[in-house]
Amino acid sequence: AADMGTDLERVLVTEEEIQNRLQEMAAEIDSDYHGRDLLLVGVLKGAVMVMADLSRKISSPIQMDWMAVSSYGSGTKSSGVVRILKDLDRDISGKHVLVVEDIIDSGLTLSWLVANLESRGPASIEVATLLRKPDALKVDVTVKYVGFDIPDEFVVGYGLDYAERYRNLPFVGLLAPAVYS
Ligand code: PRP
Ligand code: MN
Ligand code: MG
Repeated sequence: AADMGTDLERVLVTEEEIQNRLQEMAAEIDSDYHGRDLLLVGVLKGAVMVMADLSRKISSPIQMDWMAVSSYGSGTKSSGVVRILKDLDRDISGKHVLVVEDIIDSGLTLSWLVANLESRGPASIEVATLLRKPDALKVDVTVKYVGFDIPDEFVVGYGLDYAERYRNLPFVGLLAPAVYS
């Protein structure tokens, strides 16, 4: 079974750092969208924590919806071929959409998702992510709100999983190589 004590090499972003940064991002979002109806679209399952904490730091009333996508690929790497497992419940035409992600790794999932959502005619579409790995990016994706740029290493916690585990950690940690090798 997973052991939180020994499975992690070290903490990369602490709970306090995450919450402080989300507060700053929420303030930016508040000022950028003031007076506009904002729809947050969370990408299941990883974005659940970011969505819950970021949305509660936004002062204006927002709406939330969720998508679940699965990207086909070899093993843990995504390929850019994406399948919708759960679509949005509502039409987004004319809405200001902010896609909320936990991490942008290769960027392939997000780039497909943004193109898909753009084709539905939103008034605007932007992206907010807690983490981004600049060295792992394979496609250009415009991301307006980035929490932290991190090295290209195996991170878990705060929504991010390894084999569905560790999502409930309140911080982001580096997985010990022994766990996945
Ligand atoms: C992870 C993560 C992002 C995506 C980033 O989701 O939450 O959604 O991969 O990878 P990319 O930039 O290389 O496309 P995953 O597909 O593991 O599903 P999950 O959110 O349910 O864990
Ligand atoms: Mn995800
Ligand atoms: Mg995952």
